[in-house]
Amino acid sequence: MTEILVLYYSRHGSTEALARHIAKGIEKGHCQARIRTVPPLRDYQSAEIQHVPEDGPPFVAKKDLHECAALALGSPTRFGNMAAPLKHFLDSTSDEWLKGQLIDKPFSVFTSSASMHGGQETTLLTMAIPLLHQGMIYCGLPYSESALHDTTTGGTPYGASHVSGHQSSGLSDHEKTLAIAQGLRLARITLKLEDNQ
Ligand SMILES: Cc1cc2nc3c(=O)[nH]c(=O)nc-3n(C[C@H](O)[C@H](O)[C@H](O)COP(=O)(O)O)c2cc1C
Repeated sequence: MTEILVLYYSRHGSTEALARHIAKGIEKGHCQARIRTVPPLRDYQSAEIQHVPEDGPPFVAKKDLHECAALALGSPTRFGNMAAPLKHFLDSTSDEWLKGQLIDKPFSVFTSSASMHGGQETTLLTMAIPLLHQGMIYCGLPYSESALHDTTTGGTPYGASHVSGHQSSGLSDHEKTLAIAQGLRLARITLKLEDNQ
């Protein structure tokens, strides 16, 4: 079965909750979701990730990028940008860039921020930039998703999102709907591209 990598960083669980819903959508779209995370920067001893997490999904390895047909990338919003541990992993992918190994793979991005206007769009769009450099294909959320019109919490055309406040009480129904829709769309587009090869 075609696998899609769901790679996220999450300190307090909100981005992880989005990742789980995106994975649901991926599986609804008849692909397998391969969920991976990255360690906090303090846990790196060298360029290679040497630790296994105490709980939760395994840490990502380069082979996950190679073996999966698409990528859903999620990060908390940090000063309007992606979190450093995720950027650290992306910065280790110059081999893949040199060899063009990620060219034509679809991707989508998702984020969680504490405040409504605290930089979700800037985070999502800047997360896309390194993936566009890799030659990957940006897969957003179309306004045919009615939740995109109705949401008063997270959810953007650039990718699924959550507004956590200071203590998240979980994803809103619109945020869940849009995260699932994003996973489903990514799976559909991935399978369509595979069919046309
Ligand atoms: C260093 C740092 C920077 C942050 N910057 C922002 C920000 O720019 N805008 C915002 O709304 N929230 C910001 N936050 C809050 C997180 O984005 C928010 O709590 C998010 O929901 C955490 O996701 P997580 O539960 O997956 O860790 C920041 C948090 C930290 C620790």
